[in-house]
Amino acid sequence: MTFAARITGVGRYVPDRVLTNLELETLVETSSDWILERTGIRERRIAAPHETTSSMGAEAARRAIASAGIEANSIDLVITGTCTPDGLFPAAASRIQHAIGATHAGAFDVNAACMGFLSALSTGSQFVATGAAERVLVVGAETLSRIVDWTDRGTCVLFGDGAGAVILERGVAGEPGALHGLQLRSDGSQAGLLYSDGPCSTPVEGLEREAKIMMDGRAIFRHAVTLMCDSATEVLQRAGLSVDDIALAIPHQANLRIITAMSERLGLPMERVFVNVDRYGNTSSATIPIALAEAEEEGRLKPGDHVLFASFGGGLSWGAMVIEWAGVGSRRALAAPARTATA
Ligand code: UT7
Repeated sequence: MTFAARITGVGRYVPDRVLTNLELETLVETSSDWILERTGIRERRIAAPHETTSSMGAEAARRAIASAGIEANSIDLVITGTCTPDGLFPAAASRIQHAIGATHAGAFDVNAACMGFLSALSTGSQFVATGAAERVLVVGAETLSRIVDWTDRGTCVLFGDGAGAVILERGVAGEPGALHGLQLRSDGSQAGLLYSDGPCSTPVEGLEREAKIMMDGRAIFRHAVTLMCDSATEVLQRAGLSVDDIALAIPHQANLRIITAMSERLGLPMERVFVNVDRYGNTSSATIPIALAEAEEEGRLKPGDHVLFASFGGGLSWGAMVIEWAGVGSRRALAAPARTATA
């Protein structure tokens, strides 16, 4: 029997603190209108001092677990996509595993910048598809406000904090809900376009290598549309689907102009493209799972729908995935509620 991973639960969490464009006018030389016109962003959320990537990720995870109708101790593996973990180690995933009481699970993080969630989701899917795990919690969570350079108007207006999570469960290949196509790509030669140094970077005399986001926005913009469209086209082809078969596309939320350009180039009308960048800005690994959870809450997904994910970011890294929506809480009945992790 061939197994397939299906998403059976979704959850999201964003901090209460809203940072508006108007407030940013008091921090840097910018205008609310410029930000809205050039990015589509109206506001973003900022983590409270006591909040971290793992605390937000754990809250999103609790909501995903509730939506799937499962117990935390039946999860075999926790994978967190993040480039802003609470510390270098232990992994944010281990902290989340403890916070939610996933007492039988293994845990690790995946760092692929804004591709973190799709990379984590595809990893989790392989564990389920091979039979190594039955239930996997995949989280995308970021506290980007702590690595934003609040004096750089070219970046500080773009990013925000938040978390999203999904539960992956085992189904049988051919049943509704499976992952249909996947592509992950990277071009490390373009690393200098978007990066953040950190405590382990090579020391350079006279240069403080702070963990701050450095970006050539214009160059990233140019690559983003082409790369996401190329990957989306490739995964549709692999899945034997056309753009007309896609009920909803959930692209990485970095800039509304990138999203609309992608929609035009793919020939996918904006009515079938999910957008929430106006309310949260770019939350890196968290954008797709937050958007997926909102799409579910808004009733924009029904079982059998084909959903296209596409993302890009630092690396460069980019990719896409097509899934068939299973519907939350649609898991197969499992014999034992709690198992020892086999992954
Ligand atoms: O997850 C991936 C992460 N990154 C991205 O997706 C970012 C992709 N890039 C972008 O979204 C856009 O390139 C930005 C929003 C970052 C910038 O928009 P743009 O239309 O590409 O502007 P630009 O960089 O070409 O700059 C145009 C002008 C410049 O002034 P001059 O040189 O023409 O006088 C900038 O200095 O706009 C200026 N500018 C600003 N003005 C007001 C840059 N940032 C701001 C700002 N407020 N916040």
